[in-house]
Order: sequence, then structure tokens, then C-alpha cells
Amino acid sequence: MLKSLSLKKSSTMFLLVAMLLMAFAVAPAFANPTLADGEYTINFTVLKDGTSSASTMDGYAVKPAKLIVENGQFYVETTWNNASWIPDIQVDQDGDGVYTDADLIGTSGNTKTVGFEVADLSAKLETKTHVVIPFLFYDSWYKVQIQFDESSIAPY
Ligand code: HEM
Repeated sequence: MLKSLSLKKSSTMFLLVAMLLMAFAVAPAFANPTLADGEYTINFTVLKDGTSSASTMDGYAVKPAKLIVENGQFYVETTWNNASWIPDIQVDQDGDGVYTDADLIGTSGNTKTVGFEVADLSAKLETKTHVVIPFLFYDSWYKVQIQFDESSIAPY
């Protein structure tokens, strides 16, 4: 009797722990409720290729970026200082290794704003940039990743 009682107790405990674990496992799926169509700001960091530390490119970014949500699709506009040194910004939207030029939204003085679709705001966005600084004989293509901060999303 005593044995079956403690068996019952421990199986109840087991069930409780299992339910708790399941609740936590499922939680991330609900962490990002669907954003209503509209315009938002979102912070981001440009990461050095394959690392979680800020890239040199990050220092040229104007933050936050503008996030446009339309029919549940994300479009991000980022603005860059010293734009004449950054002739190309390309993104690989779906991680298939194919990079496409970001759309040029506009320029102002030596800043430019470019836009691109983002499939998943929680994923690192593979990005390539071309840096050309003629007086330094600097002409390099670099790979970086853009990491958005979903928790920073605010109305535009
Ligand atoms: C006075 C201007 C600049 C100087 C002197 C400079 C110098 C350098 C040097 C010495 C490196 C490391 C060597 C290498 O990996 O090739 C580097 C890396 C890099 N630079 Fe520049 N750079 C300048 C401007 C820029 C600008 C405007 C960008 C904007 C996109 C940029 C993006 C990068 C990137 C992405 C790397 C790779 C490492 C990382 O992600 O931080 N640089 N730069």
C-alpha cells in the first residue's frame, strides 16, 4: 500500500516535470507573436563573419533600422554613413548562398539607405559588402552577418 502510494506520488511528480518541460519546449514558438502590418523600428548589429562580435561595418550603420511588415512579410531599410566607401551591400535572404543587391532606397549627403526582404528576423542574415576607399588603395569584399534584435521592435 505504502509502496504503491509512493509510486503514485513519483509518477505524478514525473508527469508534472514532463508537463513543465513541454511547456518550456513549446514556449519559443509563441515568443514572437505575429507583427501586425505596419512600420516599426528595429535594432541590429553587424557581426564579424562567423562571430558574435561587432564588425567594422557596424560602426557605419545608422540605428535603428526601419522594419516594414506587409502581409506578414518583413522588409528592412538600413542607412549607412560614409556611403561612398560602401558601394555594394548584398544579402542572402534564404540562406541558399545566392546574394542579391539590396535595393537603393535613397541617398542623403554621404549616407545611403538600402532595403531588403528578411525571411526570419531571428536568424543571422548573411550579408556581403564591398568597401572601396581609393586614397587608401582599399578595395575588399567582406562577408558579415546582420543580427536583428526582435525585442527592440517599436512603432516607427
Ligand atoms: C578608414 C577606413 C577604413 C580602414 C582604415 C579599414 C581598415 C580595415 C582593416 C585593417 C581591416 C582588417 C584587415 C582585413 O580583414 O582586410 C578591416 C576589416 C574590415 N573592414 Fe575595414 N577599414 C575601413 C573602412 C571600412 C568601412 C567603411 C567598412 C564598411 C563596410 C569596412 C568593413 C570592414 C569589414 C567588414 C572588415 C572585416 C572584419 C570585420 O568584419 O570587422 N571597413 N578594415
